[in-house]
Amino acid sequence: MAFFDSGIGGLNLLAQCTRRMPYANFTYFADNFNMPYGTLDSDELFYKADKIFVKIAALDPHAAVIACNTVTAVCAKRLRAKYSFPIIGVEPAVKPAARSGGKCLVLATPATALSRSISTLLERYGNGVTQVAACPNLADYIERNIFNIDENKIIKMLPEYSPDSVVLGCTHYTYVKDIVKKFYNCKIYDGIYGTADRIFNVLPQKCAHSGSFSQEINFCGGDEGKNRAVFSLLFPI
Ligand code: DGL
Repeated sequence: MAFFDSGIGGLNLLAQCTRRMPYANFTYFADNFNMPYGTLDSDELFYKADKIFVKIAALDPHAAVIACNTVTAVCAKRLRAKYSFPIIGVEPAVKPAARSGGKCLVLATPATALSRSISTLLERYGNGVTQVAACPNLADYIERNIFNIDENKIIKMLPEYSPDSVVLGCTHYTYVKDIVKKFYNCKIYDGIYGTADRIFNVLPQKCAHSGSFSQEINFCGGDEGKNRAVFSLLFPI
């Protein structure tokens, strides 16, 4: 099964899926040297994402997971129209957060915050209490400083607001969840756990079992060494 994110963000979801599917093989595609994706317009984003999808398609995968909220929000429809294998995306966990009551804040990249897909999600499930805020530099900072994150720098990139819950609307933000929680002092919702459950439930059986009782995880494209190193911290083998 193929996974794709602009950089290290999708590794969080990959780690959840490898735990749920211990006999499945995964190939993680990333484009670290061309990120951030969240500041691109929709055509630029599709162009970059599609370049990776051409490589994914060459593997003839059972399915592909877009472990990136930005690519899902802006390009999932176009990618699904072009490729015939199942493509599963990630979505911010607005539904459970809004249901918990009070004011809900979704943190996302600028491209996700401006997307039609997030406004539809908020109209449908936001309960009239959900706002989205763009964090233009946050994913890029996390990507470049993953081994040395400065809490004060992260805090400066968070919008001033007093929410009752915060939704992490970018897979990179999972790495700074504790800082976000401390800053807003409220409940944090992260879509990766629900998405990992959904992936496990909707995927054809052949994706979850490679045929052998072992697991292979490969890294393809971008900064493979860094992706492997970060993944090994999330999922020590
Ligand atoms: N990890 C990606 C997301 O979930 C985006 C990071 C980027 O801006 O490249 O939205």
